[in-house]
Amino acid sequence: MPHTLDPELRRALAERVRYCHEMGIYDFYRRESTTLHEIPSANQPELREEMSPKKIAVTPAIAGNNLAAIAPYPEHGAADTASALKLIREDLGDCTRCKLHQQGRKQIVFGVGNPRAELMFVGEGPGADEDAQGEPFVGRAGQLLNNMIKAMGLRREDVYIANIVKCRPPGNRQPERDECETCSPFLMRQIAAIKPKAIVALGATAAKNLLAINAPMTELRGRWYDFKPAAGDPSWPGSRLAVTYHPAFLLRDPRQKGEAWKDLQMVMKHLGIEPPKKPAEEAR
Ligand code: URA
Repeated sequence: MPHTLDPELRRALAERVRYCHEMGIYDFYRRESTTLHEIPSANQPELREEMSPKKIAVTPAIAGNNLAAIAPYPEHGAADTASALKLIREDLGDCTRCKLHQQGRKQIVFGVGNPRAELMFVGEGPGADEDAQGEPFVGRAGQLLNNMIKAMGLRREDVYIANIVKCRPPGNRQPERDECETCSPFLMRQIAAIKPKAIVALGATAAKNLLAINAPMTELRGRWYDFKPAAGDPSWPGSRLAVTYHPAFLLRDPRQKGEAWKDLQMVMKHLGIEPPKKPAEEAR
């Protein structure tokens, strides 16, 4: 396999990879020596065996030439994280990639906070207040999230806050799978740019989408997950991800605030934040 690509092939490949990125496809695999007429049907054990994660191989032509070098994201090579986030926002544009753009959204809610945050919160999707103001977590749930952040001894400006989907689902319904899949590559790029030490998934929708695990909250909470988006810098070891209750759920069932506080204490320990003497009453 040659290690340099013919310029025309390289250009065509770059175009194809960019198109795949737009569609939310980031990882490329190739079976080592399979030609088209050899591909067995999907239910043959041989194929299942080949497709197991341990056996898949990155296409040597792409690996040898560095995929990121062939079709880099616009933010690669940005001078700093703030500029990287700006480039991701520009790439998102006036997004029409999923049906949410036709379902009454007023604006895209990209994310807010410190581009160099050590801690990032990820919610589900904008509600009416967020849609009106263009900022995540500014309604009642946002007030509670602010209190939770304060109870940790941090300020809202210290952390970064985003959602799985950036447009308001109509009637505050849960975002649908295709909407999450279309939108989350941009969130992954935000995470890859910020490189937070810890991420807190707020609620089951955020947790399930980030971790690709379908489990109840009781099973998802109370432990750490290693988390690194595919778009992440190879020299960055990745984040640790914790799951806690969504503030909107805590507003409905305040008895669970104590459990959420335990989750946040676990995060504080990881970040080396001293527990404040008297945590804000509202967050407990
Ligand atoms: N709920 C969310 O999940 N995200 C917001 O931004 C606001 C409410």
